[in-house]
Amino acid sequence: MISIKNVLILGAGTLGSRIGLQAAISGYQVTVYDIHESALQQSQKVMEKVLRYAVKMGMVNEEAKPEILARIQFTTDPNRAVADADIISESVTEEVSIKEKVWKQFGELAPAKTIFTTNTSYLLPSQFAHISGRPEKFCAFHFHDVFTARVVDIMPHPTTSEELIPILQDFGKKLNQVPVLVKKESPGYIFNFMLMALIGAAGKLKTHDIGSIEDIDKSWMVNFNMPMGPFGILDNIGLETAWHVTKDRPDSASKAFAALLKTYVDQGKLGEKSGEGFYKHPNPAYKNSDFLLS
Ligand SMILES: NC(=O)c1ccc[n+]([C@@H]2O[C@H](COP(=O)([O-])OP(=O)(O)OC[C@H]3O[C@@H](n4cnc5c(N)ncnc54)[C@H](O)[C@@H]3O)[C@@H](O)[C@H]2O)c1
Repeated sequence: MISIKNVLILGAGTLGSRIGLQAAISGYQVTVYDIHESALQQSQKVMEKVLRYAVKMGMVNEEAKPEILARIQFTTDPNRAVADADIISESVTEEVSIKEKVWKQFGELAPAKTIFTTNTSYLLPSQFAHISGRPEKFCAFHFHDVFTARVVDIMPHPTTSEELIPILQDFGKKLNQVPVLVKKESPGYIFNFMLMALIGAAGKLKTHDIGSIEDIDKSWMVNFNMPMGPFGILDNIGLETAWHVTKDRPDSASKAFAALLKTYVDQGKLGEKSGEGFYKHPNPAYKNSDFLLS
């Protein structure tokens, strides 16, 4: 099994910063690459903030902070970034054309030893693995939030070498994640696929007027002792995102739910980020102690 020491993060945005920071916390040497210098500067700030959170939550010792940050380098130079990379974790913008461009570039530049992984949320690795020139070394390795939601999906495409799977399982555990193997390519991996089913069912119950938003959420919250139900989750995800994912589905239940979501989006009710969605935020009704009894 190859020994991973040097981790290259492609894309210094929300997820690249979090994965890079966790890799440094886990003791790896980390290089973060982005085409924008401003993204690298922002990434540094995000990492410092998340690191403070990790210390507060008892995940990291305060004294370890300087050595963790010292393990992270930032660069806009692709040659320097990839020179000694054992593994690449790609978190560039979720657009096929951008992923293709980046994987062509780094497929040509990377040393023979480098393992290629993508953190894509809804694309499939087979859409761009071949462009790297080394599809057998290419696998989806998909994080959720890294610090609070700690599942990492390992999803090979049809020609990924089987040897990569135990390496990524081991690496995922060292990154303080719970690795799960998605045996066949599937958009949304495992968790997001199940979440879509829950949300779709909740939407159908509402659009068929079988239950109110509050009663649908209460049913889920009480029986599973959850802090929010499917409509609370939708407010968290964002109603515009949910509408994008739902609107092109062919079945009539999804179409009806997309139409409902659109009425909210058209009013600017996008969920938590706009202050209102199915609930009013930042203090949604489902957080009130009497919500379940109301
Ligand atoms: N945000 C999430 O909650 C989340 C969760 C899991 C997975 N993901 C996935 O992670 C990936 C990144 O998402 P994000 O939310 O961090 O995006 P983001 O927009 O925050 O960051 C993307 C970064 O990619 C950089 N970039 C664009 N083109 C580039 C190029 N040619 N070379 C190098 N860098 C380039 C941008 O400058 C930007 O800094 C996506 O595939 C997304 O689906 C996101």
